[in-house]
Amino acid sequence: MYMRTLQLFKLVLSFLLLIASNLMLMAQLSVSDQQKLDELMSKMTLEEKIGQLNQYTGDYEATGPIKQVGDKAEEIRQGKVGSMLNIKGTENTRILQEIAMQSRLKIPLLFGLDVVHGYYTTFPIPLGEAASWDLEAIEHSARIAATEAASGGVHWTFAPMVDIARDPRWGRVMEGAGEDTWLGAKIAAARVRGFQGKGLGSTDAVMACAKHFAAYGAAVGGRDYNSVDMSERMLRETYLPPFKACAEAGAATFMNSFNDLNGIPATGNAFLQREVLKGEWNFQGFVVSDWGSMGEMIAHGYCKDEKEAAMKSMIAGSDMDMESRVYTRELANLVKEGKVPMALIDEAVKRILTKKFEMGLFDDPFRFCDPEREKAVLHDAANRATARDIARKSIVLLKNDNQTLPIDLKSKDKNIKTIALIGPLAQSENDMLGFWSISWPDGDIVSQEEGIRTRLPEDVTLLVSKGCEINDKSKAGFDEAIAMAKKADIVILSIGEALDMSGEAKSKGHIRLPGVQEELAQAIYGTGKPVVVILNAGRPLVFNWVADNMPAILYTWWLGSEAGNAIADVVFGDYNPSGKLPMTFPRDEGQIPLYYNYFSTGRPAGGDNDTQYRSAYIDMPLSPKFPFGYGLSYTTFEYSGLKLSSKTMTENETLQITFQLKNAGNLAGEEVVQLYLKDCFGSVVRPVKELKDFQKLMLQPGESKTIAFDIDKEKLSFYNNDLKWVAEPGEFELMIGSSSADIRLKDKFELK
Ligand code: BGC
Repeated sequence: MYMRTLQLFKLVLSFLLLIASNLMLMAQLSVSDQQKLDELMSKMTLEEKIGQLNQYTGDYEATGPIKQVGDKAEEIRQGKVGSMLNIKGTENTRILQEIAMQSRLKIPLLFGLDVVHGYYTTFPIPLGEAASWDLEAIEHSARIAATEAASGGVHWTFAPMVDIARDPRWGRVMEGAGEDTWLGAKIAAARVRGFQGKGLGSTDAVMACAKHFAAYGAAVGGRDYNSVDMSERMLRETYLPPFKACAEAGAATFMNSFNDLNGIPATGNAFLQREVLKGEWNFQGFVVSDWGSMGEMIAHGYCKDEKEAAMKSMIAGSDMDMESRVYTRELANLVKEGKVPMALIDEAVKRILTKKFEMGLFDDPFRFCDPEREKAVLHDAANRATARDIARKSIVLLKNDNQTLPIDLKSKDKNIKTIALIGPLAQSENDMLGFWSISWPDGDIVSQEEGIRTRLPEDVTLLVSKGCEINDKSKAGFDEAIAMAKKADIVILSIGEALDMSGEAKSKGHIRLPGVQEELAQAIYGTGKPVVVILNAGRPLVFNWVADNMPAILYTWWLGSEAGNAIADVVFGDYNPSGKLPMTFPRDEGQIPLYYNYFSTGRPAGGDNDTQYRSAYIDMPLSPKFPFGYGLSYTTFEYSGLKLSSKTMTENETLQITFQLKNAGNLAGEEVVQLYLKDCFGSVVRPVKELKDFQKLMLQPGESKTIAFDIDKEKLSFYNNDLKWVAEPGEFELMIGSSSADIRLKDKFELK
């Protein structure tokens, strides 16, 4: 009885919410646009309404002129398509928009594309950009990507990807901001602000799409598309905040995900889409399914056929069908049979049309199709300069024994006259772009050879040898590489992954250096020459031999169009590296998932050797190879003088903490100071530490600065067992560090 009353209550509540959200949707538009929307809705047939919910791909004809889009052109003409993806360029988008203008009601198409890390100018992969911990730079990179994409007729990017990812076997870690919720939420909002600029309607803004809603990053075993099962507390505390940050930043759209969550596929998940997103967060935009994810609910065993898939998707709040085609085939019948209320269709259509109005497409469907603007924007040299800047900020210095880096070409002691650049990624261009780059036009990519060669004075010789392929067993190239290394004063060894080794559907059981690259590293090391390793990859790799033996290592991810220049800037000391890892680097796949903010256990290990009946491994250390937040600089920083404004605070008070940061070295440099908190005793078990703030700042040699952080109730709060967001009275530990494992200052305080 209780259950039935509850269900009834929920049903009535969701209906009221629906009416309220309809009213609010209308409230976003100007009065005249509202009238136009109303009028339009009243003229639309059911088929035309369903057409707005339908999105087709351009069959990858995005890169060339559209010769034919087959039946799709006819469907567009009949008003059966609301949006196309994978079409770009003013010429191509104009062709299709013209066809849409031949339809009865002339409703413009929306063009969507995966502008994940750049459009014409490719920026570092998002995980790399996250390593910059530079929110302004990240926003700027999204701003440029949006400006370029919008100039090329694109209205909508399927980004940012804001999935928290704790498992580097999952290839899609490259698309997100890493493992941390707090940092991830800040970066998510920065990217939305960057994409949407001054707001929808500007011709340099594209609609953002927060994806993949939700918990896709927690796929079991790091296997793409796999199931997710987690407590609602974990979901709300760890996985949802970056999405919420996107909604709050005004993201126009959300994309759901391929995974099931606790048994319900995300695409058919009313809890996620109706209750949380459109209900609690009052999200006014629309939700697009992931590619084919409505139809995939059949393979999930959640729907017996396409009809059920369409019904469950619509009821759950998925507004637009990307490429499943189940809405276009089944929704009309479902409405006629009374299985899907017309109000739901109307709501979804209104959400989509509202965005078309906001984008100004009803005023001028071709406003993003100006070839002159396209040419000017795409060839703006400032975009390349920004790409170079964010690329060098994304590089993480993992190791620098004997001050091997920067390579000082002026040093009389070192007297460097010959450099050997070795490795399968030394000359590569496309691999610098990374998995989600829109490789058009290729050719304008600065390889590492080019970047380094441009930087060298005439009296320094650069020898280049591949040594081996990225993923091949042949060692035939070793001899030449070794011979070159022997002739050189220093070797730069560029190794890692090819662009298609991390990304969608690129899950791996082993995340080691592919092919014979580790053997190549050993052979080069054997020459006795100093070696600087450049590690190019889309995910944290396991490379213990290299890490233990090579004196200097730069983790450079895939840095985009300006990769070679950015790497040269860091290698030769024109830029002092400042990146910090946004994900933990394990020593062994067996440690995965490994992340810094794990829960306190009843038998914590006191260290890597403390394994006796401890929460540890008896065959491998517990500690990571490189921890979250880690990254070196060519200078060193000293932390001192921690002061708390008080040792106690109440819920309504803010505690201020201050300390001094000093650049104790000889070079100017940036440090990312990190604030971690631990709730010592909670009504539910709490993590050993959690990032709650950071600042990135530049200090001149010898300079000291006073740094201040505020601690308020929000930073102390968490979801308790009743899923209430609360701060509980008690003791908190405060840790200030240069990484999650390099805590320099500590204290405790109490919340009264
Ligand atoms: C991916 C999405 C992407 C979509 C469109 C899907 O396979 O999961 O992230 O936006 O394709 O390309």
